[in-house]
Amino acid sequence: MTRVAGAVAAALDALGGDRASARVVRAPGRVNLIGDHTDYTGGFCLPVAIDRACLVAVRTTDAPGLVARSLDVDGTVSWSGRPPEPTTVEPAWGRFVAAAAAHGAPGPGVELVVSSSVPAGAGLASSAALCTALVLALAAPPPSGQTLATGQTLATVARAVEVAATGVPVGIMDQLASVFGKADAALLLDCRVNTVEPVPLPPGLAIGAVHSGLPRTLASSAYAERRAGCEAAARRLGLSSLRDARLDQVADDPLARHVVSENERVLEAAAALRAGDADRLGRLLAASQASLRDDFRVSTPELDALVDALLEAGAVGARLTGAGFGGCVVALARVEEAPAVLARAVARYEARTGRRAQAFPVRATSGAGPVTDYS
Ligand code: GLA
Repeated sequence: MTRVAGAVAAALDALGGDRASARVVRAPGRVNLIGDHTDYTGGFCLPVAIDRACLVAVRTTDAPGLVARSLDVDGTVSWSGRPPEPTTVEPAWGRFVAAAAAHGAPGPGVELVVSSSVPAGAGLASSAALCTALVLALAAPPPSGQTLATGQTLATVARAVEVAATGVPVGIMDQLASVFGKADAALLLDCRVNTVEPVPLPPGLAIGAVHSGLPRTLASSAYAERRAGCEAAARRLGLSSLRDARLDQVADDPLARHVVSENERVLEAAAALRAGDADRLGRLLAASQASLRDDFRVSTPELDALVDALLEAGAVGARLTGAGFGGCVVALARVEEAPAVLARAVARYEARTGRRAQAFPVRATSGAGPVTDYS
């Protein structure tokens, strides 16, 4: 709470001027407990919105155009008149602002300040948090802001903004998680119809995100290739998406086999969470990691080593989280053991790989919206 309040105050101070004319919105990042590379095939996932979020402080002005600053990276982004084509904007974070501005109509002019505690490039959906916060900040106020009438619409627009800014054909998981986050709950997403079902987290289970220290290089092009591979597999089966495929239809196709088996694991994991069955959850996370490593080929030796180190250190379960190719793994541990498990795993991982991992506990939090509790 203190950290958020401090971050809100810092964003408002950087915006300057009269606080009464400013608004602040917040959108969280996420860890995904299970269900990766399933969202863009209309499948299931089980993310958790986390207590690391992107804040945007914003004010409308009479001067046409936009001025945006970030408290995390250098550089100001500004234009007068209509927003520029996103891919032409430098510094690169300004591409998200330009893409979001193309969807909003908040007034003749806008000033805004961005500040995020979601680590960038870690697989914790920092881009989705940024896009969701920007779309909320730049949305026209009601009644003309009816385009954001539902959380699903907000998530869909935020996803379109991310695609326009980055060119990566991401799915909808991260944005749905950011919008529909809930304290003490994971979110069972059905990405065919974009529904969200909160699944309470057992109080005895702690969640940790552990960064492998490996930047996600190749991620964009490999992500698009995997997605195209899944679409081709669905076409070969005469299906509109792999969501409708059965395991026996994809037995000889590793990409599709991952997707179909992962969808089953997500539903089983939701049931295991509801039953408080930590051992079953652990086995499902292990099977997911193996499938992402061997069939979908998005793990790396470092991510594998980090998962092994966490399990050896006593984690209930661990797997890569998000797109893969580096970044974070998610770990589940019994609450009373969690700090020691994370510390032991980080030490083992460093001894084996020479890389420094960074572990941080995360808590499930509420989804995106206006920040009201500041003065
Ligand atoms: C990234 C994308 C998501 C999803 C995951 C993999 O986080 O933004 O849409 O596809 O990768 O599950």
